[in-house]
Amino acid sequence: MIRRIPVPTGKQPPLGGRALFEFEDKSLALFNVDGQLYAIDDSCPHQGASLCGGLLSGRVIQCCAHGLRFDLSSGYLLNSNLVKVRNYPVEIIDDQAFIVLYEEAAP
Ligand code: FES
Repeated sequence: MIRRIPVPTGKQPPLGGRALFEFEDKSLALFNVDGQLYAIDDSCPHQGASLCGGLLSGRVIQCCAHGLRFDLSSGYLLNSNLVKVRNYPVEIIDDQAFIVLYEEAAP
């Protein structure tokens, strides 16, 4: 099942910006890199630190806690395809940004 979660008013980050918002049990971090929006869980897969406040360099976010770096486009730890922060596609429909969640249907 696909769900499109509208990004709340005021939470769509400007160019170079970032925003954090809560949706149900999720804390999502949204980044605007060169006009492209990227959404990830705001929880580092290492020990759960917030990634939203990390150091952003291009599409790479560096966790403030211990310095691991993740590619926002894939969610993967740099130079790894084993460790990953969950990332989400972002769609823009009529100037409204939506986070796209793919969820398994209940049995
Ligand atoms: S919690 Fe992010 S690198 Fe350790």
